[in-house]
Amino acid sequence: MMGQYSEICANSGQETVAVTGEYTANNSTETQTIGEYIGRNAAPGDIVCLIGDLGAGKTTLTQGIGKGLGIRERDVSSPTFSLIAEHRGGRIPLYHFDVYRLGNATDLQDLGFDDYLHDADGLIVIEWANIVMDALPGDCLVIEMIADTLPNLRDLRFTALGDSAARLLKAIL
Ligand SMILES: Nc1ncnc2c1ncn2[C@@H]1O[C@H](COP(=O)(O)OP(=O)(O)OP(=O)(O)O)[C@@H](O)[C@H]1O
Ligand SMILES: [Mg+2]
Repeated sequence: MMGQYSEICANSGQETVAVTGEYTANNSTETQTIGEYIGRNAAPGDIVCLIGDLGAGKTTLTQGIGKGLGIRERDVSSPTFSLIAEHRGGRIPLYHFDVYRLGNATDLQDLGFDDYLHDADGLIVIEWANIVMDALPGDCLVIEMIADTLPNLRDLRFTALGDSAARLLKAIL
């Protein structure tokens, strides 16, 4: 992809503490293309945390991720009512969470989230991850999606919080 990334290093000069990146999507197709890169490069156990307002494009990005994994695009939709949708038709499973209706991190545990973490056999994508951030492990790729004054423009800001997430981010940008 043609995005930019930078590595934020600790003072010692060696240890990478976060890898960040940015990409501007001009339309929903470009957002889906970013998702496709994520889907193609994701490894079992990877976690993608999506943060953004209503209509920011979280589900649109997830549809691209599904496509990149080889899952039929139309099968991926908003699991707002079910909270979790499991898609097993692709290269690795996609566990698509939408926690908009959850109050906090404790409710996420009640959904059996720890079992998904423990199995680590697929890619976990969480819409509205900011609501449950306390329950999430340290190594995840956070993607903030920010709408612009132009209706179809979205700023995507990536922060990789651990080694696996950094590997995934470097592969997609
Ligand atoms: N650059 C873009 N990226 C993503 N979606 C875009 C873009 N430009 C326009 N859109 C439109 O914005 C809408 C995004 O809807 P989507 O359901 O993906 O958002 P969401 O963040 O999942 O919302 P919700 O919070 O309700 O779950 C779609 O109708 C999509 O076509
Ligand atoms: Mg959505």
